[in-house]
Amino acid sequence: MTRLSVNLNKIALIRNSRGANYPDLLKVAQDCERFGAQGITVHPRPDERHCKFSDLQPLKELCTTEFNIEGYPDEHFMQKVLAVQPHQCTLVPDAPNQLTSDHGWDTLHHFAFLQDKIARLKDAGIRVSLFIDPNDALIEKAAEAGADRIEFYTGPYAHHYPKNPEEAVSALRASCHTAIRCGLGINAGHDLNLENLRFLKEQLPQLDEVSIGHALICDAIYLGLENTIRLYLNRLQ
Ligand code: PXP
Repeated sequence: MTRLSVNLNKIALIRNSRGANYPDLLKVAQDCERFGAQGITVHPRPDERHCKFSDLQPLKELCTTEFNIEGYPDEHFMQKVLAVQPHQCTLVPDAPNQLTSDHGWDTLHHFAFLQDKIARLKDAGIRVSLFIDPNDALIEKAAEAGADRIEFYTGPYAHHYPKNPEEAVSALRASCHTAIRCGLGINAGHDLNLENLRFLKEQLPQLDEVSIGHALICDAIYLGLENTIRLYLNRLQ
């Protein structure tokens, strides 16, 4: 089974644009779970333009599925995550003002840094996933650093999918074997949508989880949140 974790950053972005609590992030999280989502993801960035650090504890208390916090592990982020204790923490090599995540970790270059953060999170009982490009050497090093899972950066897959699906997925498919050989679980995320998700799942049946935000929330404007979540779940069957 591949779990669908809904990334709620876009909901928080809309809420923040008017200063009041509308839409209510907690209610949307609860509704996503009610409509069948198997996880909730947020990605607090240093400027808090999406989810705020103060959203984390209430979300953790409310989530009945699986709560995943993504982000760059500076000390502020680490303290907040360790206090909240989500089920999973996905470490992402984002610069502070980055528009969105657009590459995975260089696990060779940042090995000692990651090893330290991973050990601290795992000591607190939090599963750790590393956002990563499909590259065997980087994946092997992620395992050596102690990660439980990797999350494939699927932006390039989504970009190339419309022209040549087979070619778009080939690197991810090969890297899945490496990840499994290294004992890593496999997540995937970024730019996944109703068009490219089914093929990804067919080609990578080993996927443990996909986290999807932008396209899912955009689809929900036209289709409604309940229908949209059903359609994404359908693509994962
Ligand atoms: N995974 C990571 C690490 C991300 O940073 C994001 C975007 O916040 C996603 C997945 C979800 O990407 P999208 O919003 O394109 O579905």
